[in-house]
Amino acid sequence: MSTPMERIFSHLFRSHRNRKNQSFHYFYLINEDEINRLQFQHYVYQQVWGSNFSAPVTELLKTDGTRILDVGCGPATWLLEVATEYKKSKFTGVDIKPIYPIHTKPCNVEFVQTEELTRLPFEDNTFDYVFCRAMMFAFKITDWEIAIKEICRVCKVGGYVEFMEKDIVIENEREFTKKLRFRLIEELVKKNVEPIISPKIKDYINKTNQFTSIKHEEKTVTIGGADRLSKEYKELFTWGAKNLKEAMKKSGFNLESDSIEKSIKEITDNYGCDKIHRIWARKVPMVKAY
Ligand SMILES: C[S@@+](CC[C@H](N)C(=O)[O-])C[C@H]1O[C@@H](n2cnc3c(N)ncnc32)[C@H](O)[C@@H]1O
Repeated sequence: MSTPMERIFSHLFRSHRNRKNQSFHYFYLINEDEINRLQFQHYVYQQVWGSNFSAPVTELLKTDGTRILDVGCGPATWLLEVATEYKKSKFTGVDIKPIYPIHTKPCNVEFVQTEELTRLPFEDNTFDYVFCRAMMFAFKITDWEIAIKEICRVCKVGGYVEFMEKDIVIENEREFTKKLRFRLIEELVKKNVEPIISPKIKDYINKTNQFTSIKHEEKTVTIGGADRLSKEYKELFTWGAKNLKEAMKKSGFNLESDSIEKSIKEITDNYGCDKIHRIWARKVPMVKAY
């Protein structure tokens, strides 16, 4: 039975009750600081790879009417940049939050807001190229396979899909960081976050039976080396770790106050590295089984 007060403010009580049951993904929703971090991340990743994509789509992008979809486009930094370079193609960004620029955008760009990215509001075989990046905290462990199947569905026969993710793995890590990372991974898995997604993306694409020669490329970046890129990468890494710690705190998991700083010092003292993955593949016509 609800109280009279609860009945009057039922919408508020409902959202408060829901909040208590929210999964971690709810707490990781994007604020202004995270938007700034995502924009910075785009430019750092671009330097790491020396490009905005790995799939062989350059000629396709120069062709009139080619259609590109960015799934979970966020502030659309990638989309706006690629759309500005390839004016003949048509770009669509889809996200659950309208954190993309609605008014100031090139005329070959449109945005679509949807309720969930595991069900895309597009027909089968609509896009020539579907891009999806940095979705570790957006898709639940149980969502990934469905989301990839959906991305593959909206990709045209002959078109390409491309994913870019970073696993929660550090190379050259020492004791303190290893323990902290294991604790984080354990907690993230409890919260339905997949901390090592890159090998699974390939498997999930494969399972659709519609894609050939799935390629997996990786780049290794030193966190906090002497060169400019390593210094910027350290800044990005520290910023991401701070925001993850905040999101985990809101969802009820507290790390000791100086743990991130201690770990980052240990990582940089020992030339710790991060690996960033791009996985891409081409959709081929279905072979009928007789
Ligand atoms: C880390 S951002 C990545 C943005 C963009 N792809 C990039 O590379 O900058 C994740 C995006 O997934 C979206 N998203 C979709 N479902 C989500 C969920 N359940 N929790 C958090 N984010 C979600 C967010 O709105 C956000 O724009």
